[in-house]
Amino acid sequence: MSEKFAPGAPPAADVIPLIVPEIRGNEWRYVKECLDTGWVSSVGSYVDRFEQMVAKQAGTKYAVATVNGTSALHIALLVAGVMPEDEVLVSSLTFIAPANAIRYAGAWPVFIDAEPDYWQMNPEQVVEFLEQGCRWNNGALYNSRTRRRVAAILPVHVLGHPVDLDPILKIAEKYGLKVIEDATEGLGATYKGRHLGSLGDFGCFSFNGNKIITTGGGGMLVTDNEEWARKAKYLTTQAKDDPIEYIHGEVGFNYRLTNLLAAVGCAQMEQLDNYVGKKRKIASRYCEALRHLTGVIPMKNAPWAESTFWMYTILIDEGEFRANSRQLMSALGSLKIQCRPLWQPIHKSPAHASSYVVELPVAETLARQALSLPCSVGLSESDQDTVIAALLELVRSAKLP
Ligand SMILES: Cc1ncc(COP(=O)(O)O)c(C=O)c1O
Repeated sequence: MSEKFAPGAPPAADVIPLIVPEIRGNEWRYVKECLDTGWVSSVGSYVDRFEQMVAKQAGTKYAVATVNGTSALHIALLVAGVMPEDEVLVSSLTFIAPANAIRYAGAWPVFIDAEPDYWQMNPEQVVEFLEQGCRWNNGALYNSRTRRRVAAILPVHVLGHPVDLDPILKIAEKYGLKVIEDATEGLGATYKGRHLGSLGDFGCFSFNGNKIITTGGGGMLVTDNEEWARKAKYLTTQAKDDPIEYIHGEVGFNYRLTNLLAAVGCAQMEQLDNYVGKKRKIASRYCEALRHLTGVIPMKNAPWAESTFWMYTILIDEGEFRANSRQLMSALGSLKIQCRPLWQPIHKSPAHASSYVVELPVAETLARQALSLPCSVGLSESDQDTVIAALLELVRSAKLP
């Protein structure tokens, strides 16, 4: 694939991009300060400040900055006590990183289907699996089929919309399972009035180039537990016990975010509320324009949620619409409007073929039907109108295959 089309590559000027960063605030000033003072590496006031800003936003006591969201998930799993050969329940309809992080810890993913309304981890299936597919033995829960210990649940709040967490938190408490929220796509969203990342034992965020705020690449682990936060910081900084003599108490990781990138993060965090407002406005304009279009199902917001609509997505019902989601993507692409499908559900991914998998029909249908539309924070109303008009015209003129 040409680098021009790689995620994160700036789009050509005549394309309406799917999602690009918005960098218009204090980023230059803060980065220049790092460069001028030499505080460019893994310590410095911006890393501390960025951690404080994210902890405050998430509503947790502690935050630990990491090089990316995947490393935050990896560390959360280790600190949660997930051991090799354990199992962790995880959403199947998501980007692959959380399942990979489970494998980095030597554990195995148990994939859970999505629910059809908001496309998130299905809490009923979590409860059913733990109550009926597992057995309690000697103070731990074991998957009856694989005989592996179940150690944690990793719900992924996809596309900026929360998972219905209460039933998951309740059953996790019953069986002593840790809950690690993958809130990488959910910064700024709330579940029953509480910010994502603060509801489970750990929350993880990503600041890669397509997230609502970006540091180019970066992540954060949040928690209310002081000991876990201390351990997470220790593990992300090579588990160093003595900085002079280089004595290391464990095999740690080089996962600490740099001050330089945290400086970008601080400037971006200053804009978060504004960016969330813009995303919600984009979503409501799409919803208004597309909701009467036969065969198009716009993204919804559950009554118990305040989504950020991080990645605005629609479903194309192939039976009712004139084309399928991929045909629509290619028709819009030829009009220089960049769209993309969601992810291959991870239980179908060759990368996880050695995990125990069953059919998960909702995730599979959603993945086939979904199409994300241009939704950058900086998307102008006139560009959004162009996208909407193109969609309506494709339907009206029967130009679709
Ligand atoms: C749901 C989900 N989990 C984890 C990640 C991993 O984050 P990162 O790319 O910062 O490692 C991402 C984003 O890329 C994501 O969308």
